[in-house]
Amino acid sequence: MQEITASQSVAYLSPEDEEMERQREYIRSIRDLTDRPQTYHVVTYGCQMNAHDSEKIAGMLEEMGLTYSPERDSADFVIFNTCCVRDNAERRALGNVTWLKEVRKTNPKLMIGVCGCMIQEPGMAEKIIRQYGFIDLAFGTAVLHRFPELFWSALHSDHVVLEVGGQDSVVEGMPVQRLRQDFAYVSIMQGCNNFCTYCIVPYVRGRERSRNMRDIVREVEKLRDGGVQEIMLLGQNVNSYSGDGTFPELLRQLDQTGIPRIRFMTSHPKDLSSELIRVMGESQHVLPQFHLPVQAGSNEILRRMNRRYTRESYLEKVHLLREAVPGIGLTTDIMISFPGETEEQFLDTLNLVDEVGYDSAFTFIYSPRTGTPAEKMPDQVPPEVSKERIQRLIDLQTKRQMEVMRRFVGSPEEVLVEGISRRNLQEVSGRGRHGVSVTLPGTEEDIGKIVKVLVTDVKQNTLTATRL
Ligand code: 5AD
Ligand code: SF4
Repeated sequence: MQEITASQSVAYLSPEDEEMERQREYIRSIRDLTDRPQTYHVVTYGCQMNAHDSEKIAGMLEEMGLTYSPERDSADFVIFNTCCVRDNAERRALGNVTWLKEVRKTNPKLMIGVCGCMIQEPGMAEKIIRQYGFIDLAFGTAVLHRFPELFWSALHSDHVVLEVGGQDSVVEGMPVQRLRQDFAYVSIMQGCNNFCTYCIVPYVRGRERSRNMRDIVREVEKLRDGGVQEIMLLGQNVNSYSGDGTFPELLRQLDQTGIPRIRFMTSHPKDLSSELIRVMGESQHVLPQFHLPVQAGSNEILRRMNRRYTRESYLEKVHLLREAVPGIGLTTDIMISFPGETEEQFLDTLNLVDEVGYDSAFTFIYSPRTGTPAEKMPDQVPPEVSKERIQRLIDLQTKRQMEVMRRFVGSPEEVLVEGISRRNLQEVSGRGRHGVSVTLPGTEEDIGKIVKVLVTDVKQNTLTATRL
């Protein structure tokens, strides 16, 4: 769970957008209201896309004149930006929303909003009206850009204002309250066309739509001019970006802006092209790191997941990436206990993890999602088997991670410093070019700067370093 903190910059992307002009009228009207909420708090669940959407919500609220409240329970308006990829994220969000109903007993002015993927889920809108009638405002990702208008309606209504919408649309010109000054998310596309059989994303976020290259380049140039050191390009499958060019073409253009560091998230192995691998090898500012979700190591499981690549073709791409970008930082997503997964198929995943040697991995137990094909598949794996398998996977990954991270020891790195280390106030931590987290001696002065270091050791999932 992440929380939006107040920061200074409110940036406009491209102000000519008509829909945003209409929304700005609402923003101005709300700002002029005397009895509107004065403070807000955003709670974010899920992925980077959601974190970036929360920055847009915070941006709009700031423009309406509300200020950030670090304390959730004393804010006048609390909004939960939800995720529905796995059941536990959904349950946590609904649990917290219910808790706020109690808080309202001591703070009767409290307004509660719920937004994000969960609202787009089939049947959720009805459930909200039936069970969560105390919510003031609920809206899906597809209508995020209409938040000012919906907020206005909620201020003038005594029952829940609910707007689900259809497909997510690409709207330029939303105000953004960025979390950090040195780092920025840049959304390049929305939606997904892949329909992996376990995944709810295509149903809630709709089909792929890409932004124009020109708008993206302009946004990145502005960020560069404002002192941003690193951008992360966002999309459910950035490799299939198809604005007025391909993803490798976009990367080449962004490389030329001279913004110091470019990362992207997330990729689908079937769409990782040789052209992209070439660009990774040739560009100056695209960082030597790649997040390449594998999900499983068994061809039969990959087929039933509808992933459309094989273990062999995945390993070949890893090999080509390592050839083009020596020492590249590799990370992945792995899901265990897909319906019907046998011990042998699970072992295929374990030995793929052993073979690749990832710098880190997000590990998940399969969670059935209503409306997806996998939900109806036979032989769902019992929880006690999943618990045992996930532990074996985590143990192996922890061991391999420590081993592969040793390749950095004795080498120079450049670290974008994010903050003071939690363990030692004389140390700061941040991320190296390969994506691995690094701790080094430093002070508050270093935050937001790129510092040259020499890596000296590996401690659990972090590198330690001295300054050069
Ligand atoms: N159950 C468990 N994990 C899932 N993911 C997506 N859908 C599910 C699900 N139903 C994981 C995948 C994906 C990551 C973002 O979330 O590993 O790559
Ligand atoms: Fe979900 Fe697959 Fe699309 Fe990723 S590529 S969002 S896992 S359907």
